[in-house]
Amino acid sequence: MQQVDLTGKVALVTGGSRGLGRAMSLGLAAAGAEVVVASRKLEACQAVVAEIEAAGGSALAVAAHTGRVEELDTLIAAALARFGRVDILINNAGISPAWGGLSELSPELFHKMFEVNTMGPWYLASRLAPHMGRQGGGIVVNVISVAALKPPANMGFYAASKAALQAMTKVMAAEWAPLNIRVNNLAPGNYHSDLFDSAAQNPEYLQGAIDATLQKRVAQTDEILGPLLYLVSDMSAFTTGGTLVSDGGFMVL
Ligand SMILES: NC(=O)c1ccc[n+]([C@@H]2O[C@H](COP(=O)([O-])OP(=O)(O)OC[C@H]3O[C@@H](n4cnc5c(N)ncnc54)[C@H](OP(=O)(O)O)[C@@H]3O)[C@@H](O)[C@H]2O)c1
Repeated sequence: MQQVDLTGKVALVTGGSRGLGRAMSLGLAAAGAEVVVASRKLEACQAVVAEIEAAGGSALAVAAHTGRVEELDTLIAAALARFGRVDILINNAGISPAWGGLSELSPELFHKMFEVNTMGPWYLASRLAPHMGRQGGGIVVNVISVAALKPPANMGFYAASKAALQAMTKVMAAEWAPLNIRVNNLAPGNYHSDLFDSAAQNPEYLQGAIDATLQKRVAQTDEILGPLLYLVSDMSAFTTGGTLVSDGGFMVL
């Protein structure tokens, strides 16, 4: 991680308070970036900021619901007011609140999942892109999921909302390449977090997740950091519109 130097860069991480987003916020700060940590709960973001500051870094906590555009406007304004720029956007916040066959799912849930998992990332990136363009470029990473690439039964809205974001990433990359903005997807497999562990209270689900990988295990959040740091650094300077998979060899539906 320390081989990537993000000194002078400002990174904004949605869902930065817990799980992968927390690991990413800490990892980006350890690499030298100033970090805007955003999620719905301000106190949880402030706790991550305190960890970053205790380690000598600089960070800002902002409460913002990814499904509410007015809160995303406030988030952008707060980030620019504090740091004057955003170089790296990590669209990490995502939800997977319900499991069930397509015949059992409601239109209300459809809208909720697409608002948080797809609309919010598009809105935030699209409103930040002009700023990034004016400052000479930027980097966007959209966190999707291996479920978007190999959609399993009972995860219809989750898989579809992430697959839609994957497609949007390609459009972002195409439209913003002239602004020197690179946009890529990061597609993790299963790793331990509140999101995964609540589903994995069902022993069958947990065993299925383990059995589905070539490595026969579930990852820790820190194991997804290397792929992230690759995507936000010059190591991936010739990479845009792509999808980097980190899934332990996920093979089975
Ligand atoms: N865990 C896995 O195995 C796995 C696998 C593949 C992909 N992913 C994806 O990786 C990303 C991170 O997942 P995770 O497992 O780290 O999740 P997590 O442990 O549930 O953490 C989710 C984070 O997002 C925030 N959040 C939730 N809803 C939000 C909303 N509406 N607006 C703003 N922030 C919101 C949460 O904070 P607040 O509660 O304070 O809002 C929290 O910081 C998600 O996009 C997920 O789909 C996860």
